[in-house]
Amino acid sequence: MNIAVFVSGNGSNLQALINAQAKGELSSGEIKVVVCDKPGVFALDRAEKAGIKTVVLDSKEFDSRESFDKKIVNKLKSEGIELIVLAGFMRLLSGFFIKEYENKILNIHPSLLPSFKGVQGIKEAFEYGVKVTGVTVHFVNEELDAGPVILQEEVDVEEGDSLEMLEKRIHVVEHELYPIAVKMFIDGKLTIDGRKVNFNK
Ligand code: GRF
Repeated sequence: MNIAVFVSGNGSNLQALINAQAKGELSSGEIKVVVCDKPGVFALDRAEKAGIKTVVLDSKEFDSRESFDKKIVNKLKSEGIELIVLAGFMRLLSGFFIKEYENKILNIHPSLLPSFKGVQGIKEAFEYGVKVTGVTVHFVNEELDAGPVILQEEVDVEEGDSLEMLEKRIHVVEHELYPIAVKMFIDGKLTIDGRKVNFNK
């Protein structure tokens, strides 16, 4: 199954997926393209090092979200992409894009959704003083961080934690959880029933 991973920054989740693929842990999954909306970010170096094609589109060069997304969708179709994996992609996808790849877009978020949506999930949970936070992998719908949940894992906030210490532990869990969820999708183990994701045998 041909996969496109979307990134905007560091790309540590992309790296976890590249490593999983190299170890044969993504079943028939193959990361064919890395799509990026920010020229020059480290995630692109990671993709190039792994020999994966990159598509870099600078959003400033497009006059609307839809024209940007149309360009990407054309590219993805020409590459035969069947699964979109968002890994730190900081741009909202248009309704057009989401319909084109309905129920075939995954995202990872560094909190236990529906708590602490948005780009500052770890920081907001830390500042709120929660004792438990975590990681969520979910399907993407038109609402931010609100699609049906696939997997969640808790991360405890420990006495004396700094934000950086908590961030580190959350990222470790992300890197374990995302390849597992991607493999489940590839193996046809996920069925969406309303808000619920059921695991097929
Ligand atoms: C991760 O924390 C992910 O949960 C969030 O954005 C961050 C991306 O990090 N959506 P990286 O670029 O994969 O290192």
